[in-house]
Amino acid sequence: MDLLLESTLQEVARFYDERKVGDVGPLGFRRSTDLGTLLAGLDRLVSQEIIVPGKTLFMDLGCADGRVNVFLSYLARVSVGIELDEWTLDEYDPLRVELEGHLSRHGLLLPPDNIFLFQGDATDEGVFERIGRSTGFSLGQFDLFYTYLVMHEELADLIVRRGKPGAIFLIYGLQKVMPRYNGLRLLNHLSPLEGILGIYKKP
Ligand SMILES: C[S@@+](CC[C@H](N)C(=O)[O-])C[C@H]1O[C@@H](n2cnc3c(N)ncnc32)[C@H](O)[C@@H]1O
Repeated sequence: MDLLLESTLQEVARFYDERKVGDVGPLGFRRSTDLGTLLAGLDRLVSQEIIVPGKTLFMDLGCADGRVNVFLSYLARVSVGIELDEWTLDEYDPLRVELEGHLSRHGLLLPPDNIFLFQGDATDEGVFERIGRSTGFSLGQFDLFYTYLVMHEELADLIVRRGKPGAIFLIYGLQKVMPRYNGLRLLNHLSPLEGILGIYKKP
């Protein structure tokens, strides 16, 4: 990873990690991923070709304010998010505007034009039709799926049924005991990445 990209990702992680949601108080259900932790595991994800820069089609199932989408947009071909709550998704734009001002002032890279966020239920087939129409990519073409513990059993089942062979499911928020999902293989040699990320593959 070149130095400018690395500095940019560090700054993006710092920006959002200073603005986490749900660590305390009533919004625990929409807790934010710690992007510093994702950054720490990124080299491993790239060296293992779980993320192939410029090629990976990425989708966050339950994306909230889109922070994981922004972070991974620098490496993905497209970075798609689905969020159930409209009011949560509404936080994406103002945060992004603030982030971009910040990145510009520091001479860092702005997020590429490859982020597509959708309001909807990630377990509802209809949202994938909208995604297909807007991005040109169907669910079965995505390489990498992500969730922060949202409906992980239902989403694992969705990936088993509709994902392509080789699709990867990253589950953030796991601890030492890794759940098993019928039809997905836990990548034992990588999980839990940074102590928190379970990595599963559809054979
Ligand atoms: C724990 S937050 C994680 C947000 C973001 N992915 C991150 O890691 O920072 C989970 C989000 O998933 C959303 N969610 C819950 N069920 C969902 C569903 N069926 N479809 C889409 N989003 C859902 C919640 O509203 C919440 O904003």
